[in-house]
Amino acid sequence: MRIFPILGWMLFPGCWAVTGPGAVRGPAGGSVAVWCRYRAGYEDYQKFWCRAGRWHCSNGHIVEIDGSEAEATRGRVSIRDDHTQHMFTVTVENLTLADTGTYHCGVGRTGPDLRATVELTVSPGKSRRKSQQRVQSNQHCTSSN
Ligand SMILES: *[C@@H]1O[C@H](CO)[C@@H](O)[C@H](O)[C@H]1NC(C)=O
Repeated sequence: MRIFPILGWMLFPGCWAVTGPGAVRGPAGGSVAVWCRYRAGYEDYQKFWCRAGRWHCSNGHIVEIDGSEAEATRGRVSIRDDHTQHMFTVTVENLTLADTGTYHCGVGRTGPDLRATVELTVSPGKSRRKSQQRVQSNQHCTSSN
């Protein structure tokens, strides 16, 4: 039955285009990598990472990349797109407790952005071990506009 997906797509057109891990954790002082997967066809579009606001990003994009596979870095945050796997990776290094919060990874385009919501939790601790979490399908997606 295709009825539910089609209804869902009509109500939340962004919902099926970008999926993220939903929630990721990392230790203070360590790093975390977030994989966000996008639907084929959006390879050449902008990919971004931002703090979530009510509907849009709360304060612009923390880091973005314009359809290129070259890594972009701003401060402790980097983003890299893999066109073949339809997946981009956001890495946050030197995590601090203040990094805990709700973020969006998304595809920027004309019209509504396509984005997934990611809850980042930084736990206290001096561990420097790298914490990574691979993408799964999830329901934590929203569409702006
Ligand atoms: C992370 O912290 C280490 C140690 O303070 C520093 O050398 C390194 O440049 C920092 N990395 C980033 C990306 O800020």
